[in-house]
Amino acid sequence: MKILAIESSCDETAAAVVEDGTRVLSSVVASQVDVHHVYGGVVPELASRKHIEAIVPVVREALEEAGLHRTDIDAVAVTQGPGLVGALLIGFSYAKAYAWGLGIPCVGVNHLEGHMSSIFLGDNPPQFPYVALLVSGGHTSLYYVTGPTEYELMGQTRDDAVGEAFDKVSKMLGFGYPGGVVIDALAVKGDPTAIAFPRPYLDKKAFDFSFSGLKSAVGRHLKEHPDPDETRLHNIAASFQESVAVVLCHKLIYAAQVKNCTHIAVVGGVAANSRVRSMVGAEAKKRHLSFHTPELKYCGDNAAMIGAIGYHRWLEGRFLSVGDDTYSRAKLPSNTKHK
Ligand code: KG4
Ligand code: ZN
Repeated sequence: MKILAIESSCDETAAAVVEDGTRVLSSVVASQVDVHHVYGGVVPELASRKHIEAIVPVVREALEEAGLHRTDIDAVAVTQGPGLVGALLIGFSYAKAYAWGLGIPCVGVNHLEGHMSSIFLGDNPPQFPYVALLVSGGHTSLYYVTGPTEYELMGQTRDDAVGEAFDKVSKMLGFGYPGGVVIDALAVKGDPTAIAFPRPYLDKKAFDFSFSGLKSAVGRHLKEHPDPDETRLHNIAASFQESVAVVLCHKLIYAAQVKNCTHIAVVGGVAANSRVRSMVGAEAKKRHLSFHTPELKYCGDNAAMIGAIGYHRWLEGRFLSVGDDTYSRAKLPSNTKHK
């Protein structure tokens, strides 16, 4: 069962071919980072225009890389939302037309469910039930996962998403967008104990998050100690990142204990963070938990993860009709149960 998957919800135009929801035959990601970097963030109108330019060559490359002809494809999966509507529409319209032209089904998937399913791309998926932390530019949520498309929301951020906090701190330090990778690289050279930034647990036994206070604390520190030299920059990045990692790690491990799970996962763009990976890995090992996180290339936005969840939507027979539309709202994964 070969699915051509397409993702265009933000600033990456991506296409992939995924077999049976797990085996990646190809994955192509055309990033627009250079276009948006000068503006300090994603400019929606520019993103849409770049998607239009990229979509045809990116899909073509994904088929070539997989060594397939378009008639070998059994179905198309595409991100339906949430995201920038103008950006989503490019991939969505293209995918529907592509499937229509070939006479094959097209499934629309939720971007967040794509991130959640990225954990199944590869040979070492978690076993159900498990607890998953989804950390991206727009979301920070903890889920109890009981099946490929069955999630219970345990908690989520009340304000900034973690990725957003990374991006804003990067901006404050004068590095701009995208911030996560920059902070990660600076932090490697810094002392994580140098500055006592707050650790926003809220309640240590609750699963909601809050990162705007931590972000403001970095702002206040910079006001009180302006023009940091290189060492201080590294220390600020490392201390901020440590606060984030400690809180994420604590809540994830505690959630696994509460739910009596032996498998845990971290997915989404921030799952690429080296400190989050190493801290959760070490804590999991201490507690004999099995820790799962996608390969770096499947943490950030990509289309392979859309093919992974698209397979399950295809199995459920949830096909799009030509009149179906995108949605921009930050919808939770569709089968999410609340506590
Ligand atoms: O999942 P993603 O690619 O897009 C969304 O769905 O939002 O996540 C992007 C977010 C950005 O905020 C970016 O700064 C963050 O992930 N990110 C990182 C790292 N790499 C990307 N944050 C921390 N450390 C990283 N290495
Ligand atoms: Zn994403």
